[in-house]
Amino acid sequence: NVAKGYDLSPPTPRDSSLPLSDAASKPPPAKKRKRNPSDQPEMRGPLGEDLILPSNSFAQQLFSRTPSGKVDKDGSVSKRKFISVLRPDDVQESRLLLPVVAEEQPIMEAVLLNPVVVVCGETGSGKTTQLPQFLYEAGFGSPGSENPGMIGITQPRRVAAMSMAARVAQELSLTSSKVSYQIRYDATVSPMTSIKFMTDGVLLRELATDFLLTKYSVIIIDEAHERSMNTDILIGVLSRVLKLREELWKEGKEGAKPLRLIIMSATLRVSDFASNKSLFSTPPPVINVAARQHPVTMHFNRRTVSDYVAEAIKKTTKIHTRLPPGGILIFLTGQNEIQGVCRKLEARFGKKVIEQRRRRRGAGSASRIFGVDDDVSNEAQNNPKRVGAAQADVEAEDLELGETQANDVAFDVDGDVEEDPDALDSDEEELLNEELGIDVDESETPMHVVPLYSLLPSDKQMRVFLPPPTGHRLVVVATNVAETSLTIPNIRYVVDCGRAKERRYDVTNGIQTFQVAWISKASAAQRAGRAGRTGPGHCYRLYSSALYEHHFDQFSKPEILRMPIEGVVLQMKGMHIDAVVNFPFPTPPDRNNLQKAEKVLHYLGALSKEGQITELGKTMSLFPLSPRFSRMLVSGQQHQCLPFVIAIVSALSVGDPFLHEEALLASADSEDDDDEAEKLKHLTSAAVRTKEALRLRRKQFFASQHTHSSLGGFTSDIFRVLSIVGAYEYAGGGAQFCAEHFVQPKAMEEIHKLRAQISNIVQTNFLGIDTGFVPNLNPPSDLQVGVAYKALGIAEDVFIHPSSVLFKNTPPEYLIFNEVVRTSQVWLKGLTVINPAWLSSLDGWELPPIKAEHP
Ligand code: CDP
Ligand code: MG
Repeated sequence: NVAKGYDLSPPTPRDSSLPLSDAASKPPPAKKRKRNPSDQPEMRGPLGEDLILPSNSFAQQLFSRTPSGKVDKDGSVSKRKFISVLRPDDVQESRLLLPVVAEEQPIMEAVLLNPVVVVCGETGSGKTTQLPQFLYEAGFGSPGSENPGMIGITQPRRVAAMSMAARVAQELSLTSSKVSYQIRYDATVSPMTSIKFMTDGVLLRELATDFLLTKYSVIIIDEAHERSMNTDILIGVLSRVLKLREELWKEGKEGAKPLRLIIMSATLRVSDFASNKSLFSTPPPVINVAARQHPVTMHFNRRTVSDYVAEAIKKTTKIHTRLPPGGILIFLTGQNEIQGVCRKLEARFGKKVIEQRRRRRGAGSASRIFGVDDDVSNEAQNNPKRVGAAQADVEAEDLELGETQANDVAFDVDGDVEEDPDALDSDEEELLNEELGIDVDESETPMHVVPLYSLLPSDKQMRVFLPPPTGHRLVVVATNVAETSLTIPNIRYVVDCGRAKERRYDVTNGIQTFQVAWISKASAAQRAGRAGRTGPGHCYRLYSSALYEHHFDQFSKPEILRMPIEGVVLQMKGMHIDAVVNFPFPTPPDRNNLQKAEKVLHYLGALSKEGQITELGKTMSLFPLSPRFSRMLVSGQQHQCLPFVIAIVSALSVGDPFLHEEALLASADSEDDDDEAEKLKHLTSAAVRTKEALRLRRKQFFASQHTHSSLGGFTSDIFRVLSIVGAYEYAGGGAQFCAEHFVQPKAMEEIHKLRAQISNIVQTNFLGIDTGFVPNLNPPSDLQVGVAYKALGIAEDVFIHPSSVLFKNTPPEYLIFNEVVRTSQVWLKGLTVINPAWLSSLDGWELPPIKAEHP
C-alpha cells in the first residue's frame, strides 16, 4: 500500500470502525511511558493531547516516517512529503518566519484525522499562502497520490483569489496552470491544476452541477470570520457533502474518497461553525496559531470628528513629519475618498514636490533628500528620547485639534459620503499647515502613496506588495480590503477612520442603502493589528474611546442577515435542498425572509407552487447572476433579443460603468502616471488647479453626457448602458475609448468578460442559440423635471436619480427600475420608460410598474 510514496489516504473502509474524529478527541493517556525507538512516534492532537493512532491508519503510516515526529529544523518536513518542491531561497527564508509554518505538523495531523478542521490565526500568520502548500506537499491535488483531487481554496474577494494564486505559484515555483484561480470573469485553471483559488461564489455554482465536488480532495474556506453570504452557505452545504462522500467511500464505491474541509478564520470567534450541532455533529478541532504580533499602542481621538477624511490627512501629515520611518496604512471607506487623499498627500509630499522644494531652497544634495542618514525622522528613531517627544507631540495635538463635535452619539454618518473635490485648495492647505504647526518644507522624506480598493485594476492593486523606492515612506490608502485578506508588508502606523461602507437592504421594500457605518470592535482590532506585523506599532483611531466602547458592535453582522437572499435560495433549490428553512445555516436568516425569497422566485417562475425548482429555475441557476437578471435572459430569448439582454444584464451585474463627476475630476487631477489619467489629460488645462478650470471641465463632462452624439438620446438608462457596451465592443475596447466616453476601464472590461461568459453558458447549454452581438442601437430620442413617483411596495415617494438620463426630462408616466437606493431620499436607478400596454404582452411577467403622480 505504501509502495508509491507515502500513503496519505484515509483509513480503508475496514478501519472505519474507528470514527475519524474520535482519535483526536480521546483524552490523553494519564501516565507517561518511557519511549523506545520502535514506539509509535510522539504525536500531539489538535488540542495538544497525546495521540494514540489506530494501527494501520494512514496517519500512522504518514508519521512513522518522521521518527522525531517534529518539523525538521529547516522547517521542511521533506522526509515524509509526497511531493518535494523547490522554493526560491528568499521565499523559503521568509516563510520559515510565519507562525503557521511552525504548526504544520499539528495542522496536518488534525486534517488527516478529521473531516473538518478549524484553523484560527491572526492576519498575516500565513494561513492562506501556506496551508495549500502543506496539503500539496502531502500529495493532495497530485495525480498518483491517494488524494489526487484538487485543493480548492475559496476567498470572499476576487483580489485575494487572484493575488494569492500568484503568490503561492511563486512560492512553489509552479506555473499558473498548476496553481490557478477562477473568479466570475476570469480563470487560469487547466486540467493540470492542483491548487485552485476561487471566489466563494464560484464554488457555490460548481456545487449545482457536481454536488459531490468530485474534482476536489480538500476544500479550504478562507476568511470565514468575514461571514460573507456565500461562505456561510458553502459551509452549510459542505457539511452535507462531507457526509455523502464519507458514506460512498465507506460503501467501498469505486474511486470514492472522503472530502476534507478546512475552515480558516482570522478571529477566534468560530463557535458559529465549531460548536454548531446542526452543522457538524462532532465538533471539529480548532487549531489556534499563536500570533506573532508586536504590541500596538492605541491612540483614540479625544473627540470624534465628522470630517474623517480631512482628519486622516492631518494625522498622516503629523505622523509623516514627526515620527520615525515605517509604512502608514490609512483605512477609509471608498474609492473617491481614497483617490482624494492620495492626491492631496502626493501634492504635499510626493517626490516631485519634495524635489521642487529642495530646488527652491537651492540647498542640500540629493543624498540629503533621499538618503536616510540625516533624515529628520531617522534622527528621531535613533534617539529614543526624541521619539517619545514626537509621539507626545502627535498625541497632544489630538487634544488641541479634535474638531469639536459636541455629541459623539448624535454624530450622523448617514447619506452619501462623496468627497468634495474642492475640499482642500491651496489656501486651505496653508491654513491647515498653520493649524498643525507644521512647516511642510521641513519634511524631506518623500511619500510613496498607493491606493488600494476593489475597483482598482489588479496590476495596480499588486503595487502595495512592492517595497517603496529607497528613502520613501510607504503610505497605503485602503478600504476594508486591507483589513484581513491582504497583508501589506512593513506597516508601522495605522490610521483608522472607524467606518466602512456597508451595503444594506431592506427586505420589506427592496430599498438598498450604501451607508457609511461604524465598524465592529473586531474589525477595529484587525485594523490596528496591521501596525504590529514587523515591529511595535501605533494605531490612530479617528474616533473617541467612548464611542468605541458604547457604539461599536462586538462583531459585524453576517452578510446573510443584511442582503437579498433570492440568489442563494435559488442555488440551494438547484442542489435540491428543498426545505431551505431546515438548512444548517451558521447563522439562520429570518424565516420570513426565506419565505419571501421563495415567493419572489416563484413569481419569477423559478420555483413551483410547492417550492421545487422548475425547468426554468434550473436554467436560471446556471448563470452567475441574480435571479431577476437570469430571468431577463430567458425573456430575452423568448423575445428574440437575447444578445442585447446579455449585454444589459452583464452591465447591470457589474454596476454603473459611467464615471461620475467626482471620480472624473479625481482622475483628471491626479499626478499619477497611470493610463486613465494620461488619457484624460486632454481635459486638463495648465490652470488645472484653479476652480475655474474645474468648473469648465465639469461643464464639458455633463454636456458630453447628454449629447453623447454617436449614441443618440435616451429614454432609458438601460439603453444608455447597452449603447456604451455595444460601442465599446465595436471599438474593440481600450483605454482611449473609455477616456473619450467617460467610462471606467475596469468596469467595461468586466462587462466584456461577463458578457462573453454568459454567451458561453448559453452556447454550451442551449445549442443553436445565437448570441452574436449587434452593436449599434438607436433608441428613440427626446429628453425631457423632478417629480415624486410611487413604487409598488414602497410607501415613500421615490425619485429619479440624478445620474439617470431621465433626470432632467419631463417625467414619463410609467417607469421600470433596476435599483432603489436611499441617500437623502429614495432614488430609482437604472430606469426605462415603458408603455404599460407592454406588460400585458409578457406572459406571467409582472414587474411592478411605477405610476407618475399627476405633475
Ligand atoms: O492568510 P494570512 O492572513 O494568515 O497570511 P498570508 O496571506 O498567507 O500572508 C503571509 C505572509 O505572506 C504575509 O507576511 C504577507 O505579507 C506575505 N505575502 C506577500 O508578501 N505577498 C503576497 N502576494 C501575499 C502574501
Ligand atoms: Mg489569509
